[in-house]
Amino acid sequence: MKAITRAVSSAMHHCELTHMDRQALDLDRARQQHEAYNQALRKLGVEVIELPEQAELADSVFVEDTALVFDEVAVITHPGAVSRRPETASIAEALEPYRPLRHIEPPAILDGGDVLTIGKNVYVGLSSRSNRDAVEQLKTHLQPFGYRVHGLAMGQCLHLKTAVTALDDQSVLLNPDWVDPALFEGYAIVETHPDEPFGANVVRVGRHLLYGAAYPNTQASIAALGHDVHTVDMSELAKAEGAVTCCSLLFN
Ligand code: GLY
Repeated sequence: MKAITRAVSSAMHHCELTHMDRQALDLDRARQQHEAYNQALRKLGVEVIELPEQAELADSVFVEDTALVFDEVAVITHPGAVSRRPETASIAEALEPYRPLRHIEPPAILDGGDVLTIGKNVYVGLSSRSNRDAVEQLKTHLQPFGYRVHGLAMGQCLHLKTAVTALDDQSVLLNPDWVDPALFEGYAIVETHPDEPFGANVVRVGRHLLYGAAYPNTQASIAALGHDVHTVDMSELAKAEGAVTCCSLLFN
């Protein structure tokens, strides 16, 4: 498995914030946490391709929003935040050796953080960053490969994957205040602990899970189900409204 990541931008303190107040951000600490994240991926057997810093692009560490990588094709997004659109060119260049590329075009907007893929189901959160035009364009790009694309209403959080991610192909971890569990009928549902609203974001790395260290109660629930959970401290990156899925593009 490979992961594309990108070094933390020196301008990260100017990042986009939608549902959070701005807090002082310690850049050195953010860089240390990001390096520990890369190391955690390597320990789980992932080949990490770390792209150089894009100093002028504040949110560019959050590579997840710039592309969706499927086995058959990669889709370069058109991010919802104007400031983030210049991030996609270098990601397209990085993905080109690995996949044929498709592109989301205006009037569609799409952030990868709004796209949760479980098997052949592609769930797209209709957030402030992603719209129905993107759902239609994704259908055009992905239906030929057998994917089913679903647009989902969601609550007051940045991205769909702030609210829900998959623990495996049969179960999801979600915060019921931000996404309706009924939308995931047919999956086993694990809810975040009430004190840990941001605890629904987990990265699947093969049969392992990479998870933020700030959610011990939810982590205990996941581990009790037999999942192999590895934690990383994302506290500084979280001040920029980022979480574990945001920092990598994982693919086989
Ligand atoms: N700060 C991450 C984002 O708003 O996209």
